[in-house]
Amino acid sequence: MLGPQVEILEGDARRTLRRRWPEPIDLLFLDGPGGLYVEVLAMLEPELADAAVIVADNAEAPGYRDYLTAQERFVSVPVGSRVEVTLFAS
Ligand SMILES: C[S@@+](CC[C@H](N)C(=O)[O-])C[C@H]1O[C@@H](n2cnc3c(N)ncnc32)[C@H](O)[C@@H]1O
Repeated sequence: MLGPQVEILEGDARRTLRRRWPEPIDLLFLDGPGGLYVEVLAMLEPELADAAVIVADNAEAPGYRDYLTAQERFVSVPVGSRVEVTLFAS
């Protein structure tokens, strides 16, 4: 049962996820509107653990892969045409 470990935050992720997290984020799964991926990732970057894993579905969203490849702190590989798996080094 995962219930006690799960918190559901309803609403726009740009608002609901904008907070200080009690622990560094180890795994970030992006599966919302691809057009928000860069904004959401940039917002959460200060909260990511060293070697955090970021998995994005529909990673072909405009600008997302360009954002990752432009910065050395991301090591990233496409998995098929839609998914991107990224390792973050702070
Ligand atoms: C492709 S679906 C994926 C949902 C879920 N990951 C799944 O596999 O069932 C994208 C979801 O993002 C939600 N969404 C759209 N805009 C959003 C936003 N600004 N913040 C948070 N979620 C949003 C949509 O309501 C939709 O449920």
